[in-house]
Amino acid sequence: MAERYFAPCPRGLEAALADELTQLGAAKVATTDGGVAFAGDLALAMHANLESRLASRILWRVGGGPYRNEKDVYALVHAIDWHRLFTPERTLRVDVAATRSPLTSLEFVTLRTKDAVCDRFRAERGIRPSVDKRAPDVRIYIYLTDRDAIVYVDTSGEPLFKRGYRRDADEAPLRENLAAGLLALARWTPEQTLLDPMCGSATIVIEAAMIAAQRAPGLKRSFGFQKLMWYDGPSWQRIKQSAHDRVREPSATPTIFGSDIDASAIAKAISNISAAQMNGFAAIERADVLTRSAPVSSGIVLANPPYGVRLSDQQQLAAFYPLLGDALKKRFAGWTAYLFSGDMRLPKLLGLKVAKRTPLYNGALDCRLFEIPLVAGSMRDGAMLKSKAR
Ligand SMILES: C[S@@+](CC[C@H](N)C(=O)[O-])C[C@H]1O[C@@H](n2cnc3c(N)ncnc32)[C@H](O)[C@@H]1O
Repeated sequence: MAERYFAPCPRGLEAALADELTQLGAAKVATTDGGVAFAGDLALAMHANLESRLASRILWRVGGGPYRNEKDVYALVHAIDWHRLFTPERTLRVDVAATRSPLTSLEFVTLRTKDAVCDRFRAERGIRPSVDKRAPDVRIYIYLTDRDAIVYVDTSGEPLFKRGYRRDADEAPLRENLAAGLLALARWTPEQTLLDPMCGSATIVIEAAMIAAQRAPGLKRSFGFQKLMWYDGPSWQRIKQSAHDRVREPSATPTIFGSDIDASAIAKAISNISAAQMNGFAAIERADVLTRSAPVSSGIVLANPPYGVRLSDQQQLAAFYPLLGDALKKRFAGWTAYLFSGDMRLPKLLGLKVAKRTPLYNGALDCRLFEIPLVAGSMRDGAMLKSKAR
């Protein structure tokens, strides 16, 4: 039977996620703002949770239809055979999201949804599940459009960007699925050398290493579907075992490099790489991006440079970015740089020509992935004059 799913993702990665899900065997793949709808069997939910590097969650559509008021939502939720989906001993949490819904209180919709699930359980089984907002066994999502209420059960549990390897987060780590998305947008493949010279806690480096190792991103964690009635432990173990068997050994010389100026960031990077079992796939060192050399003659630089919210930081960055532009131009001729930033001044201040700008969101922050080919002579004359005058 074809089940229907929706996978939310960071905005800007929808097309890349659609490709990824298609490769995993998804059918009827359709992108919308902020995610991808698709269809497949229940085994696909297990595969997508284990294998997707780009999705934030895999939501399983269990009901829905047109609504006009809270009563309609209650009826839609009550019509679902919840007692066939999970047992009343499981705890639950309900979340509601809406775009252009005529209903004024989403909190009231949340409450009525919870009531409808519990009332249905009580009618069928004589007992009802209790609510646990912090660590629920089962998460139910209601998505309200202007006309339809769609009911989902979350098969992921904790969001999929939590891979289970991050021991110690840097101050501004990228989400893991966003880092994997940047690699996809840069069309990086493990045959190419990759360097993140401002790697922080090494999120980009680790995501690249896992791709090179063919390691499924979810091998180290558990999932929401393990609390659902259809969960079949032995089948899941077989799926995981074959993902384990596929993992490659590192090659003799790493092609993935990370560096950062900050000693504590490097310590975190090393600890995270080890927790992700990616030792040997990446070389990490402490270095200043302004003075370090390229490890080989061509490859991809992919980084999210420091950015600032406060004015004093912004002023410092206005001095740093031109130096970064000079360093890239001088030491990385022959490479292509992909810089991810919410600072729209970046290309101008770098003084380098941008070949492509891909819009992306980091949470609510409007960002770009700037593609900058570093061919000799790529610095504009005007920018060279300006940086000399400084
Ligand atoms: C926005 S953070 C990168 C976060 C990283 N992507 C992660 O997921 O953890 C920017 C990083 O640039 C580093 N940095 C700042 N100036 C640097 C320099 N001159 N050379 C190398 N790294 C630098 C900071 O230490 C910080 O770790």
